[in-house]
Amino acid sequence: MLSVSDLTASYGAIRAVRGISFTVASGSLSVILGSNGAGKSTTLRSIAGLHRPIGGSVMLDGSNIARLALHNVVRAGLALVPEGRMVVAPLTVEENLLLSRFSGRKGTGDTLARVFDLFPRLKERRTQPSGLLSGGEQQMLAIGRALMTEPRVLLLDEPSMGLAPSIVDVVFEAIVALNRQGQTILVVEQNAAIALSVCDYGYVIKRGEIVVEGTPQALRENPEVLEAYLG
Ligand SMILES: Nc1ncnc2c1ncn2[C@@H]1O[C@H](COP(=O)(O)OP(=O)(O)OP(=O)(O)O)[C@@H](O)[C@H]1O
Ligand SMILES: [Mg+2]
Repeated sequence: MLSVSDLTASYGAIRAVRGISFTVASGSLSVILGSNGAGKSTTLRSIAGLHRPIGGSVMLDGSNIARLALHNVVRAGLALVPEGRMVVAPLTVEENLLLSRFSGRKGTGDTLARVFDLFPRLKERRTQPSGLLSGGEQQMLAIGRALMTEPRVLLLDEPSMGLAPSIVDVVFEAIVALNRQGQTILVVEQNAAIALSVCDYGYVIKRGEIVVEGTPQALRENPEVLEAYLG
């Protein structure tokens, strides 16, 4: 279980995350919804060791990983699929996946096969430069690269960003399939409709604070969520 308590993060004088608390139960698919600039990426980056929070704790299965160096966060079992995917364009698909070998949290030899099972498209294109992939394929690759570290919790930052609706569906089908295999997942999204259609539990973040939380059914019926995110 991932348990975040009173997380606070800033950029100089800008307080981007203002003391937020939430949990991601083992085996769950949880989401944090929020519009532009709400603090979603800062939250994920602070948990994943890419941004140093100024306060709060991040407990992963009982140990506090807040403020650990990035490589130690990965070793502890968190992997982030970053906003904008960040695949290494000149490297092939397979090379991008194998880069995760250097994370210090090596998967078993089967992990590559598992990624190719989940995304047959990546297997077909494994010798091609990643920069030639479509946006959807690059998103699959970014997810695959994170899976190569066999994370206890997979963090995804706006997987739907910049993708055509039909491709968003394909990416989310893969996220659901992974979750069904037992993978614990936290997704942050602006696309509330798709996120609420797949998650077990959701939080809404606004100006760095969690303003509503609940089951997807409850969130869909919440007037504030309806107006701001599902209108
Ligand atoms: N590097 C930075 N320097 C200064 N301010 C930043 C920086 N990154 C983010 N911010 C500010 O922090 C706040 C939260 O930004 P963040 O990127 O976490 O939001 P977000 O919810 O991920 O937004 P988006 O949907 O656009 O990705 C915003 O006000 C943003 O302008
Ligand atoms: Mg963001």
